[in-house]
Amino acid sequence: MFVRPVKVFDRTLSTAPDKSITHRAVMFNAAAEGEAVVENALLGGDCRSTISCMTRLGARIEVSGGTVRVRGAKRFADAALDAGNSGTTTRLLAGLLAGRGVNASIDGDGSLRSRPMKRVTEPLCAMGADIESTDGRAPLYIRPAKLHGIDYVMPVASAQVKSAVLLAGLGADGETRVTESVPSRDHTELMLKAMGADITKSGSSVIVRRSELRATDVRVPGDISAAAFLFGVAAVVPCGRVTVTEVGLNPTRTGVLDVLCRMGLEVTRDNLKAGAEPYGDVTVARVGALRPFTITAGEVPSLIDEIPLLAAVAAYAEGDSVISGAEELRVKESDRVETTVVMIRAMGGEAEARPDGLVVRGRGGLKGGKVDSFGDHRIAMSAAVAALASRDGCEILGSDSAAISYPGFWEVLC
Ligand code: S3P
Repeated sequence: MFVRPVKVFDRTLSTAPDKSITHRAVMFNAAAEGEAVVENALLGGDCRSTISCMTRLGARIEVSGGTVRVRGAKRFADAALDAGNSGTTTRLLAGLLAGRGVNASIDGDGSLRSRPMKRVTEPLCAMGADIESTDGRAPLYIRPAKLHGIDYVMPVASAQVKSAVLLAGLGADGETRVTESVPSRDHTELMLKAMGADITKSGSSVIVRRSELRATDVRVPGDISAAAFLFGVAAVVPCGRVTVTEVGLNPTRTGVLDVLCRMGLEVTRDNLKAGAEPYGDVTVARVGALRPFTITAGEVPSLIDEIPLLAAVAAYAEGDSVISGAEELRVKESDRVETTVVMIRAMGGEAEARPDGLVVRGRGGLKGGKVDSFGDHRIAMSAAVAALASRDGCEILGSDSAAISYPGFWEVLC
């Protein structure tokens, strides 16, 4: 894909449906009693992996347009599961299946096989699960086991790990408590509560007890992590202004908006709809020069997936932007510290990798050139945003990876 520079970008758009919420709505309803409809579901590669895994486990799932009808499996069938590129599918399923009396394996593509799984197998085994990994990675092999609750203090800020333990807790004796020092996205807790689970929050802990789930309809809001790319365009293009309608505004996910404000962009929220998963229309407009920013550990979980994009935007500011406490970036679909630095340098910018993050030395713009996505959807889309305001434009190799989380991205952008 070759992305040519533009001078103006002033548009009102909807964005891709939320990936995290779609995964959960399909997976949890597949484990629930009854039938539910998931409206405005994301049908990108990752969520399709979840749909196919839950179908293999015995749920009846029909997809029609953006609507997914899910009839829960009374009892999961033994299955060999392919989670594709999706860490969320793998880790959440490991927790969900651990105490449900099934023999299952979970495998995926080369990127998934390189990602750490000990972070879920360790707490699940501490609950009594019988899970074997392949040197701490996928494929995972799950066998039937009787689980008991644990009191788990999270060693990493990860919603996937938190969710895996909570889902296992639904089928465990006694109480399962998960405590996190920095809050990660709470879609699992909110959805389990709506589905009738015995789950409560107490300070920085979530407590769950054995529960059956009730099938529950879900309307998925727009994904703020997908909208972030559109906001990024408004930030880098000289006359940039973007309104994204009906985008999810769960406060555990909105860190990107705070950083864009700190960079000097005008960020406004309209038509706000309250609820467990609030949403509304968000406008980002460029009103002058961009300022560099600092991101530290406490803010990282609220914008973890947006860091490659924010780093690309930082190349359009004047001065050094510093991102620290973000070592988790190294174990995403690619090592996003390295792939983000390589992307910025390939476009003529200056950036430096650090063990726990990166520094972008903003010089008010990028030349462009040729960038490899390394098969990582968020690197491909971040490069595209940076390219739209570059001097010469940019060729993006592996651009089709965007379909993992944002089918239709290229039609919106180019
Ligand atoms: C996700 C959690 C995050 C995020 C991923 C989706 C989720 O991962 O990066 O894209 O849906 O729970 P971690 O929880 O591992 O940080």
